[in-house]
Amino acid sequence: MNQPLRHAHDQMFSDLIRTRTGIQLPVHRRQMIESRLRPRILAVGAKGFDGYLAQLFDNGLLEEELPLVIDLLTTNKTDFYREATHFDVLVREIVPEAIRRSAPIPPRLKIWSAASSEGAEAYTIAIVLAECLRAGKNFFYAILGTDISQRMLERAQRAIYTKEQLSPIPAELRARYTMQGRAPAHAGTARMVPELRDRVQFMHLNLMDRTYPVDRDVDVIFLRNVLIYFGAEDQASVVSRLVGHLRPGGYLIVGHSESMVVSHPQMKQHSPSIFRKT
Ligand SMILES: C[S@@+](CC[C@H](N)C(=O)[O-])C[C@H]1O[C@@H](n2cnc3c(N)ncnc32)[C@H](O)[C@@H]1O
Repeated sequence: MNQPLRHAHDQMFSDLIRTRTGIQLPVHRRQMIESRLRPRILAVGAKGFDGYLAQLFDNGLLEEELPLVIDLLTTNKTDFYREATHFDVLVREIVPEAIRRSAPIPPRLKIWSAASSEGAEAYTIAIVLAECLRAGKNFFYAILGTDISQRMLERAQRAIYTKEQLSPIPAELRARYTMQGRAPAHAGTARMVPELRDRVQFMHLNLMDRTYPVDRDVDVIFLRNVLIYFGAEDQASVVSRLVGHLRPGGYLIVGHSESMVVSHPQMKQHSPSIFRKT
């Protein structure tokens, strides 16, 4: 393929991924992009990355391939109890304050894990809230997990994790909130108990969409470790749309490396990576 055409396809691809997902793919990281897409390059029988891009843009494969491309290009790294101070704030401040505010009626907390990957964040929230209930606090809660990656959402819905993935959960809580699979196929894995699975729902949602089909009185939105992949303009629009889904006094929690990203007239900084809607 001649160089100008190759360059044009690279740029078209990078622009397309940016507008559809927010993710910035620097053209100079071609090798990394190519290696992530290798399974699709092989699956469609393309001649290398150039051949694959030609199939997408010139042979009409684009819309069919796009969800699979997104699955391969998103970085889905997550952990139970990742950036654990956020869960401490949830338990020590947000829950008690919600209980005080709605007394004598128990509050109904709505929590949204807005880039949930395979569910570790949503289930960590479910575990810490279940522990609050055990400790005698009186409230209801529902957790929504959303992500752009279908592959991650399927895993989140199954709620089956390897022992290694579950290792950050304290042993006592792991025993209480996970159950070991008996079938040989499930050796070395455990599943979240139904009591937690009932509280967590997962749904496909692209943060780049103009509107989100989510309630507008959410108490806490976890938006952690996703904005780092976006450019400044997309970061600001996503934050602004999400703020519209928080109730007044609601919290937006971003990753520790992302606190600089939240600059919104309605959001006041509570602590480095936690913001509160005025
Ligand atoms: C690195 S993971 C972070 C997971 C979790 N929030 C955490 O902090 O552990 C980033 C997630 O953002 C998702 N993502 C990327 N772009 C997205 C978009 N436009 N809309 C929704 N989710 C997106 C990816 O699929 C991935 O699962």
